Amino acid sequence: MNACTAIAHANIALIKYWGKRDASLNLPAVGSISLTLEGLTTTTRVEFLPGAGDDVLTLNGAPAAEGARLRASRFLSRIRALTGTNDRAVVHSTNDFPTGAGLASSASAFAALALAGSRAAGLDLSSRALGILARQGSGSAPRSLFGGFVEMHRGSRADGDDAYAEPLLAPDVWPLTVLVAVTSEHEKATGSTSGMSSSAATSPYHQAWIDQQPSDLAAMREAIASRDFARVGELTEASCFKMHADMLATRPALLYWKPATIAAIDAVRDLRASGVPAYVTIDAGPQVKVLTLPFHAERVREHLQHVPGVLRVLTTGLGGAARVLP
Ligand code: PMV
Repeated sequence: MNACTAIAHANIALIKYWGKRDASLNLPAVGSISLTLEGLTTTTRVEFLPGAGDDVLTLNGAPAAEGARLRASRFLSRIRALTGTNDRAVVHSTNDFPTGAGLASSASAFAALALAGSRAAGLDLSSRALGILARQGSGSAPRSLFGGFVEMHRGSRADGDDAYAEPLLAPDVWPLTVLVAVTSEHEKATGSTSGMSSSAATSPYHQAWIDQQPSDLAAMREAIASRDFARVGELTEASCFKMHADMLATRPALLYWKPATIAAIDAVRDLRASGVPAYVTIDAGPQVKVLTLPFHAERVREHLQHVPGVLRVLTTGLGGAARVLP
């Protein structure tokens, strides 16, 4: 068979990834820990057709922008290099959430593309090898290969063979709810790759961010292992705001927030002051993701819905691993 369809879920990092130790192999400067989200998915079909020629990519039913097509094509060439073929690929990909607005669409996109593409090419890669492949598309993509709580390893080898993801805890072991307050549907202005390289080049806080990551990762592993929700939440917010401090100290400053982003942060702090366990995290975009326990999810959703500038609120549980569709 030369075609395969795979589905992968988006993920959000609790301990964030920001910075690369090698841009060409896309090796992260820091490890990270994430949650895979049930409701936000990318479904991708890859078909290899005999003969050379341009790869085709459609996104949500329309031809993709040339930049996105070339990025996918470069990634597919890594798969072609593994099989020694030169076949062109036709790729159809659909997201059920806004693309490029800080909902980690590149993670689910490259996890689904790595899985569907490698299988369509006749490869049956180990989960580690699949992670190493997915990482070369997007640094957060290996995390979307697994369900529940996932750790992405920074690794130290120059060839990147130890920079892959591993599951920490299955999604049904400790059910949590994530609410996504959508404050803008527009594509973000600065993508994560160029943002990370600007931070590395100009932010006086970037090295401190990298240096502190091992202790943040260790604390988060421990909080997850002991199911300490308040500790997970506190560490999540600390990592998010530390990353945004690094972004803000970049020149020119990387400011991904909108007024509604800050309003939503405030609303969650108010909720917490009234005894509701809820914690925010924000990626390279304006959406606010709120982590809470399922019992409190409806109360948090209602509260966020009324924040001025919040367009809509998505509610999701924890998702499973990426998988091939029949
Ligand atoms: O995988 P990338 O290149 O889209 O980088 C993701 C970076 C953040 O979303 C800001 C943080 C993270 O760990 O997901």
